[in-house]
Amino acid sequence: MRNVLLAALLALTGPIAAWAGSSHSLLDIHPAGRLLLVANTDSGTVSLVDVPARQLLAEIPVGEKPEGVTWIGNGPLAAVTLYWTDEVVFLDTKLQRVVHRLQVANEPYGIVASRDGRRLWITHDYWGTVSEIDTRHYRVVREIPVARFIRGLALSPDETKLYITGYYNADLYVLDIASGKIIDHFPGHEQYNLARNVVVHPDGSRAYIPHIRTRTHIADSAGSIFPELSIIHLQKPKNMKRRTRIAMDTFNNLAVPTNPWECAISPDGQTFYLIYAGTDDMNLCDILNDDYQEISRRGNTALIPVGTHPRAIRVSPDGKEVYIYNTLDFQVGVYDARSMRPLARITVTKSPKSPEWVRGKILFNTAKPPLTSRRWIACASCHPDGHHDGRTWQNPEGLRRTPQLFGLAHTHPLHWSADRDEVQDFEYTIRGRLMQGHGLLAGPIKPKIGFAPVELEEKLAGRSADLDALAIYTNSFSFRLSPYIVAPGKLTPAAERGKAIFLSKETGCATCHSGPYYTDSSLQRPFRLHDVGTGQDDPTEKIGPQYDTPTLLGIYRNTAYLHHGKAKTMHEVLTTFNPYDKHGKTSHLSKQELDDLVAFLLSLPYEYPPEETPNTVPYRFVPAAKRSPPP
Ligand code: HEC
Ligand code: HEC
Repeated sequence: MRNVLLAALLALTGPIAAWAGSSHSLLDIHPAGRLLLVANTDSGTVSLVDVPARQLLAEIPVGEKPEGVTWIGNGPLAAVTLYWTDEVVFLDTKLQRVVHRLQVANEPYGIVASRDGRRLWITHDYWGTVSEIDTRHYRVVREIPVARFIRGLALSPDETKLYITGYYNADLYVLDIASGKIIDHFPGHEQYNLARNVVVHPDGSRAYIPHIRTRTHIADSAGSIFPELSIIHLQKPKNMKRRTRIAMDTFNNLAVPTNPWECAISPDGQTFYLIYAGTDDMNLCDILNDDYQEISRRGNTALIPVGTHPRAIRVSPDGKEVYIYNTLDFQVGVYDARSMRPLARITVTKSPKSPEWVRGKILFNTAKPPLTSRRWIACASCHPDGHHDGRTWQNPEGLRRTPQLFGLAHTHPLHWSADRDEVQDFEYTIRGRLMQGHGLLAGPIKPKIGFAPVELEEKLAGRSADLDALAIYTNSFSFRLSPYIVAPGKLTPAAERGKAIFLSKETGCATCHSGPYYTDSSLQRPFRLHDVGTGQDDPTEKIGPQYDTPTLLGIYRNTAYLHHGKAKTMHEVLTTFNPYDKHGKTSHLSKQELDDLVAFLLSLPYEYPPEETPNTVPYRFVPAAKRSPPP
């Protein structure tokens, strides 16, 4: 019955008013405006929605962590990027199943299709390339290097260029499709961060990039993180000012929105929509394109509330409706495009995780009370989906580089200085200067005086359901295998040689970077901290120079190394920053041996570490299938 209905809908395509799918998103509306595709990142599915009927037609399993979806031409085929398993999956929406899986380069994120559906382009986040796929033969025809950490992707209206954003700097690259060359570059700023989306005006004059700004020398909820929108003047010559930046907090008269996530433009080019994933609201704006104000709030409208944690927005091809994916309501909201009056909500999936995990994800991503009373900042502003933010912060206790949170459940204690022993201790971060929230726990906690680690004395687990939920979510990020390996469990010859050096008595690396997580960290007291000669010459350091051994898994993805982030490469960790052989012995290694050692470090993890160790904490999400039976 459903299939018949669907076939009828797809047959009804008729004249195509406008083209929605020119930029990457978790949502894509069919060119005829009836069928909406929704990529459900946590569920590992794509939902197919009949928009006029406000009805979910199907939820199709695709695989782990879909991050983008697009119709291929007028359908019935669609394509999805699977960030976790490095695949592009092709769906037949009539048959409601996957028809082809294509292995692609590491971390496919953004995806867009040409209007005729013959070509697909994909950004590969860490790997830093754009791949081009021939959809008729399911084949990667080109892979073009751009830069490390690229996410946002949009196609120019004339389909001759691709626009690509640098995630950690809001750079914009212009790729000429015919030649496969980067023909222009609009540099962002070292403070610009988390630029995961770009949208191009239908007249081709401007690109819009939502992002945040991080001021790493200020650890204060009202001074560290700012919501911004960069507007790029694509056609201006290089000697003119080609970028404008709008501070979206002052834009809203200091009714602060947090974590601008995705924007959309109406097909007639007159309306601009921007959603905020941290404050669950949005801006509705008129586009002025006046080289000065650029956008203005329509009729002076204030921020408009939407659902929980919106991550995608699309406008219907006729410009009459707006769709917003409120991801943690598991619903797509349908709104009147002129007024943003809500018209319908369509449930598209349910969470495959536990209610506690979902609650934790909401708390981790929100910039609303009681996490913070100032609205500028969320845990996710610095730890987006458990990734690092590419920054080193000047904290009161010293320089501290944001680590990725993968494997956290097994690598406690926490912080470079091991001054915390449970994620619930982040109640101190929530109540402290950085977030200035009321906290998730009722009543007082031991006050923090100076730098003494009172967190280690105060046991917070089990005292607040919300705080425990935050811990369960924060402890749930796991590693994926390194892209530098030959196959799971198999190293390159260079990495194999490096492994022998790593394990050798002489270098001594494995004495501290030991066990399956490559760290000797353990919750057994006293904690093992080490002075490896990295904390002496920093006048701002207040609690060093001994640090907790970090895991080496996944560090190929770092943008910098060591607690202070001053080492820009792994080579520097082993040479410039290890002059006296205090950090393992490295001075005897030849250039070739150092290269081999680095090749090994880049290959971690080359096999999946165990999901249970003697040091694993109880507050984490374990899929029902993997839970061990009660004793
Ligand atoms: C302003 C950016 C920022 C915000 C906001 C932030 N963090 Fe962090 N986080 C950091 C930095 C920097 C570190 C490293 C600090 C250190 O080790 O001393 C860190 C470390 C951590 C660690 C320890 C990781 C490890 O491997 O030891 C956890 C867990 C963590 N943060 C969770 C949270 C939670 C939960 C929140 C929200 C309540 C939060 N963070 C808010 C920047 C931030
Ligand atoms: C005495 C214990 C110890 C030994 C031996 C040791 N490490 Fe470390 N390692 C640490 C500690 C502690 C840190 C954190 C230091 C800091 O951030 O200032 C660290 C940091 C690192 C980092 C940076 C990780 C990151 O995320 O920034 C790398 C890479 C590393 N070690 C590799 C090695 C290699 C390779 C060897 C052998 C040559 C080695 N380590 C030997 C304790 C040790």
